Amino acid sequence: MEFIFTDPATDFSSGLQVITDYHQDFLARGTKLVGLAEKIKKQGISESLANQCMNMYCHYSHASILHHKDEEEALFPLLVEQSSLIIGMMERLIMDHEEIEESWADLAKRISHPEKITNFDHFLHLTIEFEKILREHLTREDEDFIPQIKKILTADQLQKAGEKMANLRHLTA
Ligand SMILES: [Fe+2]
Ligand SMILES: [Fe+2]
Repeated sequence: MEFIFTDPATDFSSGLQVITDYHQDFLARGTKLVGLAEKIKKQGISESLANQCMNMYCHYSHASILHHKDEEEALFPLLVEQSSLIIGMMERLIMDHEEIEESWADLAKRISHPEKITNFDHFLHLTIEFEKILREHLTREDEDFIPQIKKILTADQLQKAGEKMANLRHLTA
């Protein structure tokens, strides 16, 4: 079975659209991820559940890295000359990204080898933790950060950010 990463973003005409598409995908997928770990705890691992684990592994491994790059390399550089409020927010968000990546690395070790998962309680615990820190981060971005930067960024800057994100994926804009 082959596991293929499908990019949650298809419209790169605006950097904020790409970010929003990822956030929606992360939120919906997080619920499914926890549901999967709960099912494994109840039923044990089967071929179908192992495949779902591999699909999750494939997706998050690509999506987390790309999404953090989109923000840190395409979006945040547009805001470095903004107020200390915005700068402080970006510093905090970058620290969150490190925490999310660490939490994912822990979970990834297990979810990438589903047949070797033996402690289903611990696996569920890792999954719940990862989903929680990611969701809290997304909420911080959606409710605090994005409303602020929407007031600042011009249509031209958002278009440039989208182009940069397409370039990060080696897509021609
Ligand atoms: Fe982020
Ligand atoms: Fe984000």
